[in-house]
Amino acid sequence: MALNLDGIIGDSPALTQVFKVLGKVAPTDSTVLVTGESGTGKELLVRALHANSSRRGKAFVPINCGAIPKELLESELFGHEKGAFTHAIRTRQGRFELADGGTIFLDEIGEMDLSLQVKILRALQEKEIERVGGTSVKKVDVRVVAATNRELEDEVRAGRFREDLFYRLNVIPLHLPPLRERGNDVLLLAEHFLKGHCSSKGRKPLVLSDKAKEMFLTYSWPGNVRELENFMERLSILCDTDEILPEDLPEKIFLDIGEKPLKRVEETVPMRPAGFEWPTLKDMNDEGFKLKEFLEAIEGRLLAEAMEGAEGVKNKAAELVGIKRTTLIEKLKKRGLL
Ligand SMILES: Nc1ncnc2c1ncn2[C@@H]1O[C@H](COP(=O)(O)OP(=O)(O)OP(=O)(O)O)[C@@H](O)[C@H]1O
Ligand SMILES: [Mg+2]
Repeated sequence: MALNLDGIIGDSPALTQVFKVLGKVAPTDSTVLVTGESGTGKELLVRALHANSSRRGKAFVPINCGAIPKELLESELFGHEKGAFTHAIRTRQGRFELADGGTIFLDEIGEMDLSLQVKILRALQEKEIERVGGTSVKKVDVRVVAATNRELEDEVRAGRFREDLFYRLNVIPLHLPPLRERGNDVLLLAEHFLKGHCSSKGRKPLVLSDKAKEMFLTYSWPGNVRELENFMERLSILCDTDEILPEDLPEKIFLDIGEKPLKRVEETVPMRPAGFEWPTLKDMNDEGFKLKEFLEAIEGRLLAEAMEGAEGVKNKAAELVGIKRTTLIEKLKKRGLL
């Protein structure tokens, strides 16, 4: 049967190799561990895995193990009985039970606590789970797919990840190569995102000039596809002409590819006189922003400045803007700056 890769763009040899393994492993019930840098499309790939399996008619249940406080994660995964803890006012099914017959996606598994890792291992080996506060076990028929952007082998060596669970999960490793190793896919993806974002804004799709293409192919894309997508969205709003020229690209790209940044128009405008002034509605309209975009742009500039001031040290940058490190990371990720 032909592989359904709906929405996954790219035909580079690196990605085609991943599709080949996907095609073989999808119809089986094997555990799969998807690795790859942040923003490489791990979640998209796992969804495709489920869509191409015989479980496709059943539930696909994702859970981000890094985003749920560790005290709650066990009950989220395995459910709890009424009265198991103070706020357990009624019995609740966990994600494993909800995924019965289907696939559970344990995202960011590298963030999971060692004590919970034992319980996952048991669920995998025995195909049964126990609710928190429960007294009996329940059989579940769930395919487990996990993903991480950490090097789990390093985590095992450092004693933060159980070796037995690592081997159990890593039956079929699927590694998503970073965008910089996917050659021309960068341009296919850029065109795809430009088309989408421009049409949603009712404008003609922007095209990349030859020089911009060359720069895209050389840039290292540390935030991978997510960074590219966010960047294309930004260009669809901010680019005034129909063609994307080097002057539309941020300094970060020039520095990364070892070229001297072009002198930007805004850099030649003299600084405002000393003394703080709030931006006005006119400033916002003159820049062609709507409120949300304007606030986002201001926040983005402040975050970038803080990261620069802190020389990339996230703790320090978070301190400079007065937010928690985790919030900073979330915001940077969302912007494709991580
Ligand atoms: N090959 C691709 N074709 C089209 N869109 C893609 C592709 N790869 C990723 N994307 C898009 O890029 C964004 C990031 O992808 P995804 O969330 O799957 O990455 P991830 O590896 O899970 O990232 P993270 O490690 O940060 O969780 C999503 O909006 C996704 O739809
Ligand atoms: Mg993800």
